[in-house]
Amino acid sequence: MNVKVPKSKQEFLTQCTDAAVTLPYADDLTPLAKPLTIGTKVAPNRIAYQPMEGCDGTPSGCPDTLTIRRYDRFACGGAGLVWVEAMAVAEEGRANPRQLYFHDGNADDFARLVERIKTTCLKENGYEPIVIAQLTHSGRYSKPEGERAPMIACRNPLLEQNAPCTDADIVTDDYLDALGESLISAAARAERAGFDGADIKCCHRYLLCELLSSYSRPGKYGGSFENRTRLLRESVKGSLQACGRDFIVTSRLNLYDGYEYPLGFGTREGYGIEPDYTEAIALVKELASYGVKLLNFTMGNPYFNPHVNRPYARGGYEQPEHPMVGCARMSDGIATVAREIPSVAVISSALSYMGTESAHVAAACVENDRYAMAGFGRLILAYPDLARDILRDGKLYPEKICMACSMCTQIMRQKGGTPGCVIRDAEVYAPIYKELVKK
Ligand SMILES: Cc1cc2nc3c(=O)[nH]c(=O)nc-3n(C[C@H](O)[C@H](O)[C@H](O)COP(=O)(O)O)c2cc1C
Repeated sequence: MNVKVPKSKQEFLTQCTDAAVTLPYADDLTPLAKPLTIGTKVAPNRIAYQPMEGCDGTPSGCPDTLTIRRYDRFACGGAGLVWVEAMAVAEEGRANPRQLYFHDGNADDFARLVERIKTTCLKENGYEPIVIAQLTHSGRYSKPEGERAPMIACRNPLLEQNAPCTDADIVTDDYLDALGESLISAAARAERAGFDGADIKCCHRYLLCELLSSYSRPGKYGGSFENRTRLLRESVKGSLQACGRDFIVTSRLNLYDGYEYPLGFGTREGYGIEPDYTEAIALVKELASYGVKLLNFTMGNPYFNPHVNRPYARGGYEQPEHPMVGCARMSDGIATVAREIPSVAVISSALSYMGTESAHVAAACVENDRYAMAGFGRLILAYPDLARDILRDGKLYPEKICMACSMCTQIMRQKGGTPGCVIRDAEVYAPIYKELVKK
């Protein structure tokens, strides 16, 4: 499929027609400038910078030079909310040897990072963003030493076609009990370090997300809806109890994995890969009843069906659908679930493929209450000051946008690769990309 990221309204509308989808669209971007109250905190605008891992921490898991550079750029950019990338809460659950790893021994390094994000944004933009810590265990995708060391919730023949596992890789209930405790302690540590909130990460088929569809797992974490959602629910509840009432306890949550029942979440028997949000709605209503005020919705598995997770122009395989179909699935799915929990502010995902027009789609969605905040991912690596341009100039500039070329993820998948934007941040990332291609 020969597609390019749209750089004008006309190109966007043509692609929507080609893909036979409709997405909301507003010419006026001012809805994105409205503040948003989340519990007792206020985000100064409706633009969220999604977690974007750089795989560039120190071996002991602290932010390193490139990590700090990335957050400096994000802080200058002026987003109302910065969702700090995946931070492992267990050494064996790191996705790579340079993934951030958050523990008692390095909490001060993270406190300095948060302080730096807040003061930089204040100095550059006149306000502080809300800063969230993403707490994770990489589960099936753990590679703490750089080689696969999977820790899985249950066997999955689809995902194991190219990445074999054994029954010995299934984590025990005791391990999951202890992980729940680690997540709760990490949320409390994040509060002490100055974060405004902590995300019990449950997306992209990492361990907690995999549990959501562990239909075949025996015991208290498998089988029934109650069991499959237990670790997320108890970690959220425990974190709410362990932290102060101003602290935001949240989750980045997969609404739909994109594979058939019983291999994934968000589908039902006999309906193939057609999304079914019944369980996602039941889960978010339950989280809302605990007092959760913010959720960040996403879909898919970046290792298995990236066209669902982050629609692209160029990627590792020929995608089975027009990328605009993926953008519409994400937007409509998020709106369908968000509508059921009016007390919760919802952040959207997967806007980047829509290029300059992503801000117009987001403004319409915020204005029409489809979701409360627009979450930008790849675009912020290419265009870290996008919030400023939206708020100040009322538009995004075509020469700065992400081309959805997947070079950032190509770097990420290579051993030792530290992803960034090869095209727009070429001074730093083009040499890194060239070196990896040579290898
Ligand atoms: C290089 C890279 C790093 C990412 N790191 C994270 C991460 O740490 N945590 C997370 O939840 N998602 C992560 N994602 C997913 C993005 O946050 C986002 O969901 C995805 O790119 C789709 O949004 P977009 O279309 O705006 O890029 C990453 C994606 C990329 C390409």
